[in-house]
Amino acid sequence: MRNKSKILVIGALGQMGTELTAALREKYGWQNVLGADIHPATAELQEKGPYFKLNVLNKTMLGRVVSNLNVGQIYHLAAVLSANSETDPFRAWEINMQGLLNVLHVSRKYQMDKVFWPSSIAIFGPASMRAACPQHVGGDPMTVYGIGKQAGEFWCRYYYQQYGLDVRSIRFPGLVSYTAKPGGGTTDYAVEIFDAAVQTGSYQCYLKENTGLPMMYMPDAIRATLELMESPEDKLSVRTSYNLAAINFTPRELAAEITKHIPDFKISYSPDHRQHIADSWPSSIDDRFARHEWGWRPKFKLSDMVSDMLCHLRKEVYA
Ligand code: SER
Repeated sequence: MRNKSKILVIGALGQMGTELTAALREKYGWQNVLGADIHPATAELQEKGPYFKLNVLNKTMLGRVVSNLNVGQIYHLAAVLSANSETDPFRAWEINMQGLLNVLHVSRKYQMDKVFWPSSIAIFGPASMRAACPQHVGGDPMTVYGIGKQAGEFWCRYYYQQYGLDVRSIRFPGLVSYTAKPGGGTTDYAVEIFDAAVQTGSYQCYLKENTGLPMMYMPDAIRATLELMESPEDKLSVRTSYNLAAINFTPRELAAEITKHIPDFKISYSPDHRQHIADSWPSSIDDRFARHEWGWRPKFKLSDMVSDMLCHLRKEVYA
C-alpha cells in the first residue's frame, strides 16, 4: 500500500497558513509538510520546507500533487476574505466555493485521511443571536464570503455523511497575528491597529468604537486547529463547523489596552462600508460543543494578546 504520509497546506502564505505551516512542520517534520499557494516559489520560501505554486481552481494539478506527492491530509485555507469578496462577489465565490469543491472532490478520489477547512463567524447575520450565538442555529449570512462559508459547511458535512471523508472545520472569529497580515477582512482593524500604534502612535479605525466582535490570538487558533485534527473521530458530533470563542472586544477596549503600553496612542473613528458587515455579526459566540467534545480552552486574554503583539512588533521595528 502507498504510504500517504504528507500534509498539504493550501494557502500556506496567508495569515493563518504561514503560522499553521510552521506549526505542522515543527510537529511532523519540515519535509512532511508541503506548502502551496498562488504565489511563485522563491529560494527563501523553499528554505523553510517544500513549497510550490498551486492554484486551487486547477483541479487537475491539485489531483496530481496529491497523488504524486503521497498526500494524506489537506489543510485548505486559501480564500478571499469578507470585505474583499464584496468588491468582486462572483470571483470570490469561484475561489472560495469552487476551491473547496475541488479539494473535497480530490480528497475523496485519493482517499485523504483527514481534511481541514476553516469556516467563520461570517455565517451569522442579523437574524442570529447578537451575543453568545449558539452552535446549532441556522446561519443568516449577509456577505458573499459568509454565504460561501455557510454553503461550504454543508458541503463538508455532505462529504462526511455520503462518502465518509473526515472533514473537520472551525468557525473562526477575527484572527490577530503579527507574522503574515490578513488582507481584505472586516476584522483586520485589530491587526492594523498594532502596526499603527508601534509605527506612528495613532490609528484611524474604520469601525465604530463600540463595535464588539469575537476575536482570537493566532497561537490559540493554531493550537485549536491541531487539537481538533488530533481528536478521535468518535468524539466529534459537529460535522458542519465548530463555534470557537476566545476574546470579545470593541475597538475602544482594544485601544484602551494598547494605551496601557503606549500612553500617547491616539485612536479616531471613521466608519466605512465594513461597519455594515461588522454590524451583521454577533459580538460573541457560544463554543460549548468545542469545549465539551474536544476540550477546547483559549489561553490568551485581551491583556496577554496585546502584550505579546506589542513585544513582537517592537522587536521588528527596533531590529
Ligand atoms: N476575519 C474574517 C473577515 O473579517 C472573518 O472570518 O473577513
